[in-house]
Amino acid sequence: MIDINLDTIDCSGEPPVREPERQYYYMAKCREIVRKKTEELGRPLTASIRTFGCQMNAKDSEKLCGILKQLGYREVDEHYETPDFVLYNTCTVRENANLKVYGHLGYLKKQKGRHPEMLIALCGCMMQEKDVVEKITTSYRFVDIIFGTHNIFKLAELLYDRFTGKTTVTEIWEDTDQIVEELPAERKYTFKSGVNIMFGCNNFCSYCIVPYVRGRERSRKPEDILQEIRALVADGVVEIMLLGQNVNSYGKNLEEEITFAGLLQRVEQIEGLKRIRFMTSHPKDLSDELIQVMKESKKICRQLHLPLQSGSSRILKIMNRQYDKEQYIRLAKRIQQEIPDIALTTDIIVGFPGETEEDFLETLDVVRQVRFDSAYTFIYSKRTGTPAAKMEDQVPQEVIKDRFDRLLAEIQGISSELTGRDTGKIMEVLVEEENSQDETLVTGRLSNNIVVHFKGDKSLIGRMVKVHLDESKGFYYMGTMTESMDAE
Ligand code: SAH
Ligand code: SF4
Ligand code: F3S
Repeated sequence: MIDINLDTIDCSGEPPVREPERQYYYMAKCREIVRKKTEELGRPLTASIRTFGCQMNAKDSEKLCGILKQLGYREVDEHYETPDFVLYNTCTVRENANLKVYGHLGYLKKQKGRHPEMLIALCGCMMQEKDVVEKITTSYRFVDIIFGTHNIFKLAELLYDRFTGKTTVTEIWEDTDQIVEELPAERKYTFKSGVNIMFGCNNFCSYCIVPYVRGRERSRKPEDILQEIRALVADGVVEIMLLGQNVNSYGKNLEEEITFAGLLQRVEQIEGLKRIRFMTSHPKDLSDELIQVMKESKKICRQLHLPLQSGSSRILKIMNRQYDKEQYIRLAKRIQQEIPDIALTTDIIVGFPGETEEDFLETLDVVRQVRFDSAYTFIYSKRTGTPAAKMEDQVPQEVIKDRFDRLLAEIQGISSELTGRDTGKIMEVLVEEENSQDETLVTGRLSNNIVVHFKGDKSLIGRMVKVHLDESKGFYYMGTMTESMDAE
């Protein structure tokens, strides 16, 4: 990927003002400090990153890890070894996500008690909330560095400030229109990678905190995206996941006129790239052009995540989703008709303020009509600062629990029926890992994202193979490899 030679960076003078040059300067400075500490200790400095939340955060963590590697840190697993530097990349989409972080912080406090030299940093979505930062700076004073979602590229600079100063370094930006390219990244997988195509969100669904913590929508330039993907492919990546909170509105703030479908067509042409996935698609902006491009594409996977949130037009309106029940069903059916082998997946929230039994039955009705291949179901979580948090009529917990269970049963029934539909066929699988339970097996995914286990060894990881789907086990298949497709 991006090859930065820190040895060529002159860090004797003042730091450059421009990015990313400024960060290269601080990386070089930090690397010197890390080197000295390594010599003193007689062992490499270690770091770990724990990621909460969505694919965006996972991608951010790869960037953060890339920076730490440049500085000379060795990545370790927090479970087995106490690292010298611990970074938590947090999520705040639901209350649970926050509680998890506070729980872990209690544990980190004890660790730091035993290892006073340990540095602790928090970043990500939770840190964009003022009350969270206040709570941490008053009640969790052992935290060394706090930053948000907009300035993750500044990790080296913030760490340098902490190395050279004494107090807690806190830097949160309200928002930004800046996109800093050309920074290092350390990928979790050799053969697949997420690629940001846009940041932020402008939709302000009334329950959702993401627009407040991720800022306004801004798209990356197509050429930057294509260049990143080409470099990834040259480095062995065969599958990419294009990332954005609402990929269907890609391109709106760019000078160059381009739609998401147009971007996909250009990505498709990259030689060596075998699979393209993307998320998330907002139903209100999904164009006919996109359906056509997907239909004709050889590389875009047969999977579409199309969050429903609720099946009640009344609730959808209060949620500010900009579509109603009928529009959603029509769209879903059109996609299924045009692309018959597509797997449709969705997100559903149960217990939005004021949700009645009738509203809930509308949701069940959509689930039955559309027949989702799978669905993530969430219990509504009140997020301070969002319009829904102020709404009266919060639904009682026992009612939510009952609806949640009914919804889950419905979804699981449909999902297991659908999963079996390709039994007996031979299909392409991208091999992802050795099976964790049985080392004679490997695990991969079909284009529609369903998992397949079959006999094979780890030399197959990252390769596309043809597999006969012998038997459906509800949510996955057991199969037999028929041929390797590497020559193609
Ligand atoms: N941008 C994506 C969603 C990102 S958040 C989209 O619009 O589809 C992922 C999912 O979390 C959402 O689809 C929603 O189902 C859920 N979610 C968001 N806010 C929530 C809240 N306050 N309570 C419960 N679930 C929530
Ligand atoms: Fe949240 Fe809606 Fe934006 Fe998705 S589209 S991130 S649910 S505000
Ligand atoms: Fe993602 Fe959670 Fe932030 S879902 S955008 S990490 S609030």
